[in-house]
Amino acid sequence: MKNMFDLTDKKAIITGAGNGIGKAIAEALFNAGAEICMLDISDNLENITKEIDNDSSKIHFVKVNLANRKDLKLGFETALNKLKRIDILVNCAGTQKRHPSEDFPIEDWDLVIELNLTTVFSMCQLAGREMIKQGHGKIINIASMLSFFGGFTVPAYAASKGGVAQLTKTLTNEWGSKGIQINAIAPGWIQTYLTKALVGNPDREPAILSRTPANRWGKPEDLKGIAVFLASSASDFINGAIIPVDGGYLAK
Ligand SMILES: NC(=O)c1ccc[n+]([C@@H]2O[C@H](COP(=O)([O-])OP(=O)(O)OC[C@H]3O[C@@H](n4cnc5c(N)ncnc54)[C@H](O)[C@@H]3O)[C@@H](O)[C@H]2O)c1
Repeated sequence: MKNMFDLTDKKAIITGAGNGIGKAIAEALFNAGAEICMLDISDNLENITKEIDNDSSKIHFVKVNLANRKDLKLGFETALNKLKRIDILVNCAGTQKRHPSEDFPIEDWDLVIELNLTTVFSMCQLAGREMIKQGHGKIINIASMLSFFGGFTVPAYAASKGGVAQLTKTLTNEWGSKGIQINAIAPGWIQTYLTKALVGNPDREPAILSRTPANRWGKPEDLKGIAVFLASSASDFINGAIIPVDGGYLAK
């Protein structure tokens, strides 16, 4: 029997692959057989390419600021040109800004909403048009625990991640019958650059760990399995799901 999780001959675009969760997911899709193109603003993409596989012709990257709409479109077109087709899109680029809501600068609001939500919509739209034409595709959005909770001092992030969950459902309703599965992964508390203000923070870390039954921070590698699953034919009847990978945080 064919391995249901095999991604051989699949072509994947991963945003935010320059670090943390996106990097781990890019590596996982490549190791499952996919040809990948990583989109990120980071200067580290060439090093990551070598780290994943020193001499593969199936790893590409485009350095792009996805918070700039013109650059995003160009970045997507460049990636598509390299891959020639897109079967899998992973929207992982994201950012965080923390301030008390009463003092939250509108510039920070605009950046977080642009990168975490509008970029996800634009990438879905560009990839969706290709996937509709070919009659199949897998889109994986990265949501958050703050797709469910309001959080604290993170109004823009919570609004953006609530939006990602709703966008995942609305696109599912429109494109599900066209052979496209759109789902979201909602990571719990994962130790990355994004959470560096919380790791070891005496005011926040104990509360996070005591509410997480697994009693540890997640690692970017903890997202690899679900990403391969949602990118593969093993998930062909999973549509519009927001799947927590959170060490049990939502169970409490
Ligand atoms: N770490 C967590 O606990 C956690 C929990 C839930 C959801 N998430 C989500 O996971 C995703 C990845 O976060 P992470 O924790 O790996 O953080 P990270 O900071 O390690 O990675 C974010 C990536 O996005 C890229 N990026 C930032 N701005 C960009 C821009 N303008 N254009 C292109 N790329 C840009 C960065 O260069 C980086 O490679 C984000 O969407 C985040 O909201 C993280």
